[in-house]
Amino acid sequence: MSPVKILDRSFIPFLNEERILNRIGEMADEMNSELAGDDTIFIAILNGSFMFAADLMKRIRFPSQITFIKVTSYAGTQSTGTVQSVLGLNQSIVNRNVVIVEDIIDSDLTIDFLLQDLRKQAPLSLRVCSLLLKPGALQVDLKPDFVGFEVENQFLVGYGLDYDGYGRNLRHIYVEEGQ
Ligand code: IMP
Ligand code: MG
Repeated sequence: MSPVKILDRSFIPFLNEERILNRIGEMADEMNSELAGDDTIFIAILNGSFMFAADLMKRIRFPSQITFIKVTSYAGTQSTGTVQSVLGLNQSIVNRNVVIVEDIIDSDLTIDFLLQDLRKQAPLSLRVCSLLLKPGALQVDLKPDFVGFEVENQFLVGYGLDYDGYGRNLRHIYVEEGQ
C-alpha cells in the first residue's frame, strides 16, 4: 500500500482491504445470529456506504432485502445544520426489522434525522450499523448497534469515503497525512 494524492491533499494507508473485510465478516456474523429468521430490510445510505453495503450483504445468511437512500446535510449558518432526504424510501418498513447501513458516523446529524423519520413508519426494530465511528457521535449519545472500527477525529478516504467526490473507488482506507 503506498500513499495516494487526491486533488491537493496527501493520504497514507490506514486500514487495508484484508482488515476491513475480516471485520465486516465479524459484523455479518453478529447479524446472522441476532437477526436470523426475521424479515429484515437493510437501508444503505448513498453515496459513501455503497462498497461497505456490498461486502456486508455478501456475508448475510438470512433472507433480507437491501435498498438505498440518499440524504444531504447542509451546515448553513446554524450550528445544528439540517438534513434533507433527496432519494427517499420506496419500500414499506412496517413491522419489519430495519438496519441502517452507514460508512461513517461523525456528528450524527444524518443518522439522527433518519432515525426520527423511520421511527414514525412503525418498524418492528431499528438498528444502526456503521463501518466507522468518530468520537463526535458518542458525545450526543448515539450508540450504533454494529460498529466496524472506532477512529479518532481524522479525515479518511477510500472504500466509499470521499474527498470532494474523489477517492471512493480506493480499495483500502487512507488517512490524511499529518493527522
Ligand atoms: P454526520 O454523522 O451527519 O456528521 O455525517 C456523516 C457523513 O459525513 C458520512 O456519511 C460521510 O459522508 C461524511 N464524513 C464524515 N467523516 C468523513 C471522513 O473522514 N471522510 C469522508 N467523509 C466523511
Ligand atoms: Mg456520506
